[in-house]
Amino acid sequence: MIALGSDHAGYELKQVIKKHLEERNIEYKDYGPFSSESVDYAVYAEKTAKGVTGGECELGILCCGTGVGISIAANKVRGIRACCCSDKFSAEMTRLHNNANMLCLGGRVVTPEQAIELVDVFLDTEFSGDERHIRRIAQITDLENRF
Ligand code: RB5
Repeated sequence: MIALGSDHAGYELKQVIKKHLEERNIEYKDYGPFSSESVDYAVYAEKTAKGVTGGECELGILCCGTGVGISIAANKVRGIRACCCSDKFSAEMTRLHNNANMLCLGGRVVTPEQAIELVDVFLDTEFSGDERHIRRIAQITDLENRF
């Protein structure tokens, strides 16, 4: 199950991603918003991130205008590693090296076609499991626990 969330500036892109996931027969849960009325991205970052940390969803995708605000907010939720990406290489590396559990996209940055490519590479790439990456991620978790 994939957790989806956005603000108003990412709403249309989220709709595009939903349609794409349906075409791929990938289940998702939409944590809102459910219209393009202006909302605050931190609210939906939290709701969606909790869907991932609570175990209901394995991975999440968030959209705002740039992907930046919603990623900063999501990263405040313990256990979230959210990465804002606009290129395929980074989207792949966030899974391979960082074991990112949320992808953040900018509805005002990437085209729908680019977003779909980023979503596919993010969902289709597994964490490498390499010892050095496990160690580095553990250091991030340690930081999270100390501050
Ligand atoms: C909303 O106008 C915009 O600031 C928001 O979607 C996002 O880009 C923030 O980082």
